[in-house]
Amino acid sequence: MTATPRPTDDALPPLDPADWEAFRALAHRMVDDSIDFLRDVRERPAWQPMPDAVRDRILHEPLPRTGQGDVSSYEDFLHLVRPYPNGNIHPRFWGWVMGTGTPQSAMADFLASVLNPNVGGLEQAPKYVEQVVVRWLAEAMGYPSGAGGILMSGGTMANVIGLAVARRRRAGFDVRASGGHGAGEPRLTLYASTEVHGWLAKACDFLGLGTEAFRRVPVGDDFRVDVDAMARMIAEDRAAGQHPCCIIGTAGTVQTGATDDFDALADLAAREGCWFHVDGAFGAMAALSPETSPTVRGIARADSIAFDLHKWGYLPFGVAALLTRSDADLVDTFAMQAAYLAAEPRGTFGSEGIYFASRGIELTRRFSALKVWMTLKASGLDLLGAHIARNVRQATYLDALVQAAPDLESLAPTPLNLVNFRYAPAGVAADRLDALNREILLRLQERGIAVPSGTTIHGRYAIRVAITNHRSTAADFDALLAGVRAIGAELTTPSS
Ligand SMILES: Cc1ncc(COP(=O)(O)O)c(C=O)c1O
Repeated sequence: MTATPRPTDDALPPLDPADWEAFRALAHRMVDDSIDFLRDVRERPAWQPMPDAVRDRILHEPLPRTGQGDVSSYEDFLHLVRPYPNGNIHPRFWGWVMGTGTPQSAMADFLASVLNPNVGGLEQAPKYVEQVVVRWLAEAMGYPSGAGGILMSGGTMANVIGLAVARRRRAGFDVRASGGHGAGEPRLTLYASTEVHGWLAKACDFLGLGTEAFRRVPVGDDFRVDVDAMARMIAEDRAAGQHPCCIIGTAGTVQTGATDDFDALADLAAREGCWFHVDGAFGAMAALSPETSPTVRGIARADSIAFDLHKWGYLPFGVAALLTRSDADLVDTFAMQAAYLAAEPRGTFGSEGIYFASRGIELTRRFSALKVWMTLKASGLDLLGAHIARNVRQATYLDALVQAAPDLESLAPTPLNLVNFRYAPAGVAADRLDALNREILLRLQERGIAVPSGTTIHGRYAIRVAITNHRSTAADFDALLAGVRAIGAELTTPSS
């Protein structure tokens, strides 16, 4: 018998640190640098353009066949990457809808990576951490016990998965077996306002429902869905042989922060036998404060709610929640079986096996729940709610300044944390205002004064301020308007 040769790869340099003390020194330096970086965030511009040379160095670097070492790659991060993020951790960043994160939750993300568990399920504390986080979030939204939920990477994913659950539960045929359309079944149709976020069209496409399945319901002057119009569209579709299966309401629309009338939508869904899903990407967070919770009255009547924790939950990116009124909804939609994944009564695979992988699409899952758990335990839900309420008061303040100013114009109501306005001083022709305000916005960003974003409302270009930022103070909004006016004056004063 020949001896089995023994592999000799133990001579390789390890991927773990070769020198743990040198690594400790580097890791401590990274932490110290990061703490300074976060502490001093206000001293830096809200955003700065990347020099071409830096972009070229990143983009054109050849595949590193041989490593440059931990210290040198960290130094490249410090010089090439760290100075040029999109800026959302800055107190005067209010573009699109982004969150800021906190230093403590960044450390929780680090700890999650140190532990690096697979939270597809298994018998382990991280699974129970996610379970309790889901229970806390469900309670915060007013859901009864027995609700289900799962964390995922963002609001788009949570909404898409919510829609998959809606389709499974209301299609009236076995979607899992027969796909998007049952043989001879009527077409499934869904209803949401014209203000719904772009995830819905993507989801209809992705889930094989087809974008034509999505019926766009008009909104009123307050940008809330016209529920009577929705009811009429459902009746017409039903009369035409379609199968209305899901109604989608929004808590905090992306353009103006409008929130639909959830009680009216829940009543309509109940009458029509439709699933009722709420996209609460940022607006659902209003439920966390008694000051703002009336905005989302009725949200707990939804069959499913999707919301981000990385926007108005102020956590680092990569975490959102999908909740369902009943845990069985998730299990029925996603439970999977495989010989190599069979649950065991004992041992690492525990009695519930792939608990979370049976409630969503991913098998291997990151421990995103840790930053939610540690933040809620450390700060408490009420403090998060208080920051959310403060952001709403800041929006109300900015809106009031705009309303009172003869050289500024409000372009939409401000029911939550979003303000849309433009610079419109006397003497500037109306047809110049779009280009003028776009240029003001770009200069605000390029000079690092502040980062709002832009949009078009009723055909008029708006500077759009979405406040999901726990670092902003009232003075930051004064600085924004001062910047708008200074740049506006530059652009409208004839050069001598
Ligand atoms: C109302 C609304 N829904 C969904 C989303 C998508 O969320 P995410 O960017 O986390 O995928 C957003 C993002 O801004 C949003 O504002």
